[in-house]
Amino acid sequence: MQALTQEKINEIRNSVNIVDVISSYVSLTPKGKNYFGVCPFHDDNNPSMSVSKDKQIYKCFSCGATGTVFKFIMDYENISFNEAVKKIADLGGIKIDLGYTPKVKENKEQYDIYDLSLKFYMNNINTPNGKEAKKYLKERDINEDIIKEFQIGLALNGKNALANILIKKYKPEEVLKSGLIGRNEYGYFDLFYDRIMFPLYDLKGKVIAYSGRIYNRKDNSKYFNTRETEIFKKGELLYNYHRAKDIARVKNQIIVMEGFMDVIRAHSVGIKNCIATMGTAVTKDQANLIKRMAKEIILCFDGDEAGAKATKACAEELNKIGVIPKVVRLEENMDPDEYIKKFGKEAFERKLENPISIMDFELSYLKTGKDLNNTADKAKYINQIIEEINKIDDEILKEVTIKKIVDETKISEQVIRNHLKEKPKTIKKEKETIKLTKYEKAEKNLIYYMLKSKTVIKMYDKKVTYMPTKEYRLLAREISAFFHQYGDINEASFIDHIEGDAELTNTIKKINQNMTSESYTIEEIEDYISVIKEYNINIAIERMQNKMHEITDPIKKAEIAQKIINLKKGV
Ligand code: UTP
Ligand code: MN
Repeated sequence: MQALTQEKINEIRNSVNIVDVISSYVSLTPKGKNYFGVCPFHDDNNPSMSVSKDKQIYKCFSCGATGTVFKFIMDYENISFNEAVKKIADLGGIKIDLGYTPKVKENKEQYDIYDLSLKFYMNNINTPNGKEAKKYLKERDINEDIIKEFQIGLALNGKNALANILIKKYKPEEVLKSGLIGRNEYGYFDLFYDRIMFPLYDLKGKVIAYSGRIYNRKDNSKYFNTRETEIFKKGELLYNYHRAKDIARVKNQIIVMEGFMDVIRAHSVGIKNCIATMGTAVTKDQANLIKRMAKEIILCFDGDEAGAKATKACAEELNKIGVIPKVVRLEENMDPDEYIKKFGKEAFERKLENPISIMDFELSYLKTGKDLNNTADKAKYINQIIEEINKIDDEILKEVTIKKIVDETKISEQVIRNHLKEKPKTIKKEKETIKLTKYEKAEKNLIYYMLKSKTVIKMYDKKVTYMPTKEYRLLAREISAFFHQYGDINEASFIDHIEGDAELTNTIKKINQNMTSESYTIEEIEDYISVIKEYNINIAIERMQNKMHEITDPIKKAEIAQKIINLKKGV
């Protein structure tokens, strides 16, 4: 593996134009020297992200997200720094060989074990042993092409067919770690047997686990899944993510389903922008992944009561990160797989073209089991709806919903409005600005300009001995060290330089928040520096005053008093 030097990273970054790269993800409009677009890293409809061709960085004035083209790709595609560098190098026509990315390298054996098991399972289904499994799949309308594309295989009826293969090739502890093999007093044995094997993939499409379905016998569990391992963290992935992500981006729509069989069915009829949560509650990580896949998010869970519950839970997790999904409900308790099979692709597409709003879903969901002619039920219903309206950050949807419940329940509109919370957004912003002390402001501004000018760094070096706030202190030191190492400051290079240091990266984000100015005056910088100095002097004075109280010797006391006076004079 080739180590990347700062120079090489610079070369790669400069081989492309950040404006071209970002505009393939977000539409950008030129304005003055910069380009502007909607920031994909927070929920917004305003063009608050600027992309600078000169500086080769992007910056969101609203959420503070900033970085070079590498950071943008990392965050947008959920890939590592090395992978992002590789991608840009490819775009720019620069050859680099990164070999395995660290995580893959770390668990290389585990990935290899899965590759081998996949070959084994896929082969089994095509042998005479797989006849019954094939028949089952055929009955479910899963043809050869789908079997190949989704790499569906078969775990044999025997006790240790896979174990025998793996144990010959890999260290026992690696084999046991995989979650495919167990061990008892008789030796190693297969944990999956006599099941149709559906591989589960990580975000990049590598096989890292299986879900095995029974097909010819009774068993307590319809699906048996690999337990969590070093490479399989269920809550961090979505079934079919790697196949669906590009098409979802193009269509700007992602359909979220419960079961992977639903996704396979939809995919097989040509609806390929689908992913599955696989029957468990959606985690925050998953919600974030979904959010980034497309703007329009449609929840199409099973038509039964459990599906309605899952829809509600998923919507709530998405609401927390500012996403308002739409909902498709299927009749007669059908799941998407059954619906498509029964009514066909077109009928399903019509459903997708006419999703209901999340509030309409809530209205009908909260109504079930309640009698609106009963006063207690009605009151409960209205209160629950108000609670839901308060969670939604979409003014139009709020208004429409208010009108709807007024019509439906004949309650006075004013009563509802009295129960609505104020918009929290503006309140929060005010609080944030108030919280910054004048010292923090000075530190923040000083660093903002240190990132832009070596003159400011030199002034910092000469005049600032100590930044009061730890995170700013660390960042300022790093900037100064960078300058001394490379003889210049370039914001893009610096950002790449601190890549991987979450704390410094975060601090940069903070520094950029609500800052738009590009130029400064020397007086302004002097001002920031003297505010910081003032802080340090006050601290020193405080320390001496404390000391003076402890001392009894009048001469020493006088000496300290003089020192305090000098400090106050700024000597
Ligand atoms: P479903 O029971 O809705 O699956 O569970 P399905 O897609 O309709 O499956 P078929 O049509 O009967 O084959 C949804 C998801 O929950 C997980 C699976 O990931 C499944 O895709 N699940 C379900 C399990 O992990 N174990 C189970 O026993 C059942
Ligand atoms: Mn099903």
